[in-house]
Amino acid sequence: MKIILLGAPGAGKGTQATKIAEKYGLIHISTGDIFRANIKGGTEIGKLAKSYIDAGKLVPDSVTCEIVKDRLSKQDVIGGYLLDGFPRSLYQAEELSKFADVDLCLNLEVDPALIMDRICGRRVCACGESYHVSTLNGSTTCAKCGGELYQRDDDNPETVKARLGTYNVMTAPLIAYYSAQNKLATVVCGTKTPDEVFEDVCKVLDSFQK
Ligand code: AP5
Repeated sequence: MKIILLGAPGAGKGTQATKIAEKYGLIHISTGDIFRANIKGGTEIGKLAKSYIDAGKLVPDSVTCEIVKDRLSKQDVIGGYLLDGFPRSLYQAEELSKFADVDLCLNLEVDPALIMDRICGRRVCACGESYHVSTLNGSTTCAKCGGELYQRDDDNPETVKARLGTYNVMTAPLIAYYSAQNKLATVVCGTKTPDEVFEDVCKVLDSFQK
């Protein structure tokens, strides 16, 4: 399966992507993670990306599309992949269609009222695990690997507002775009836990595979 995971900031894309990739044996490709790794590594791409990420804007298409095109040219994606956070605009979707033929766009629909708390309360580990402070009982280390938890630089109220604005203008039109291609499936998250959302996601993916 070649899947796009779509959703507003904080919809749970990363959370679900980890579970989906593990259960269905797909390669998880997150453009946000790729940019953050470049920022950490001090690369030229990282230096460029940081200014856009901190402002809640999209990193320029020329850079982003090239990164994804290059990643999808690797051998390990032959068995299937999951694109988390790409495409994020109609332009990126058109570019993607030139070098990949995705099967499904899975849209995670979340109540906008939940987003600010989810993101500003998020703590992440370098291993990729993500938590909400309310579930940590004061712990500052990762339950999975023991690493120190930290807050992403763009997980602050001001940047989250900008990210949501960017999503509404640039990314939300992709829902209609993939719906018109009969490739859209929406999972409504409501107040469901990550595991409950995952059950709904599996129903969609299992029926798609049949
Ligand atoms: P990116 O890293 O993709 O960030 P995002 O889209 O804003 O998404 P998030 O990572 O914030 O949220 P998520 O949906 O993954 O939710 P999560 O599972 O973590 O992109 C960052 C930046 O990089 C962009 O702003 C842009 O600048 C740049 N960028 C990336 N891709 C780009 C592209 N294609 N083009 C140009 N620029 C690009 O969950 C969030 C929180 O909620 C966590 O605390 C989690 O524990 C909790 N949670 C999850 N599910 C539930 C649930 N069901 N119930 C309760 N809590 C939950």
